[in-house]
Amino acid sequence: MILSIESSCDDSAIAITEIATKKLIFHKKISQELEHSVYGGVVPELAARLHAEALPKILEECKPYFSGLKAVAVTITPGLSVTLVEGVIMAKAVSIALGIPLIGVNHLIGHIFSLFIEKEAVFPLTVLLVSGGHTQVMEVASLEDIKTVAKSMDDSFGESFDKVAKMMKLGYPGGPIIEKLAKEGDRKKYNFTVPLHQSPLIAFSYSGLKNSVRLAVEASCEDDYKDIAASFEHVATLHIIQKLKKYFKEVPPKTFAIVGGASANLYLRRAIKELLKPHGAELLLSELKYCSDNAAMIGRVGVEMYEKEMFSLCDEMEVCPKSVI
Ligand code: KG4
Ligand code: ZN
Repeated sequence: MILSIESSCDDSAIAITEIATKKLIFHKKISQELEHSVYGGVVPELAARLHAEALPKILEECKPYFSGLKAVAVTITPGLSVTLVEGVIMAKAVSIALGIPLIGVNHLIGHIFSLFIEKEAVFPLTVLLVSGGHTQVMEVASLEDIKTVAKSMDDSFGESFDKVAKMMKLGYPGGPIIEKLAKEGDRKKYNFTVPLHQSPLIAFSYSGLKNSVRLAVEASCEDDYKDIAASFEHVATLHIIQKLKKYFKEVPPKTFAIVGGASANLYLRRAIKELLKPHGAELLLSELKYCSDNAAMIGRVGVEMYEKEMFSLCDEMEVCPKSVI
């Protein structure tokens, strides 16, 4: 079995995955949403302190499995450096104590493999990753052959939901809050400009939309928030649809997947389903519980890397806050 640890942002999670069957033997996650909610976003130093408390508690529960562990996998990139370090320190300690190899996992590849928890992986795939840190489209041929074909020039899709919720003082994370509020609102009430709609670029941008929403929030009262949320969600989604439409003209999709925390958004899921229809392309989605950050997806990548003997030396393993694929 492989022990996997995730601490790239505000979720402390540990999983144990059986190598031969990919079966998830154990998975526990302690989220810090409540603690960060008062600040309207993740405070890195607070997150690191909370990981230092939560991770050892979860590891304690894994002790009965220690004798069966063959490797320890841990997220090393991308993420907040102070929180990544918490997971890496623990992984190194487990690796030394049990004399088992270390595997350094890229969190973004983890999100791709969230599609294949307890399953065989199927490639090739075109993947849209929408999370708090990333909005990007990737062509995935295999674990080791991933190309980013479009990415955000500034904020991410999920982050823009967080910022809008913060403007409205509604708490954190903003995604589920804004999605719920938007259901009651009029999507056409605010005519926000769709980002980059006249640009030939196949890229994403959310900072302009965020600022337009800020102006609308400042000029309105609480009764208008549902219409602002609905109009914002509509335009944020339409932006992705317009850019994917452009991309699909160049590279028609065959199997398409949406991953990452914001892939839980039903308005986005529905819009992409419609977009794929004329192409007859299949849509893959992660189970809702594996959309947001978790250690099961890190363990699933760990299994692939273990089989390919992609190990890291303890002395050489370092965290890297920024990562590109
Ligand atoms: O993948 P994830 O758990 O963490 C990162 O790797 O960033 O994604 C978290 C992000 C947050 O920005 C959160 O607001 C967003 O995903 N999110 C959503 C929804 N659920 C979570 N965004 C839009 N709609 C949702 N339903
Ligand atoms: Zn993530």
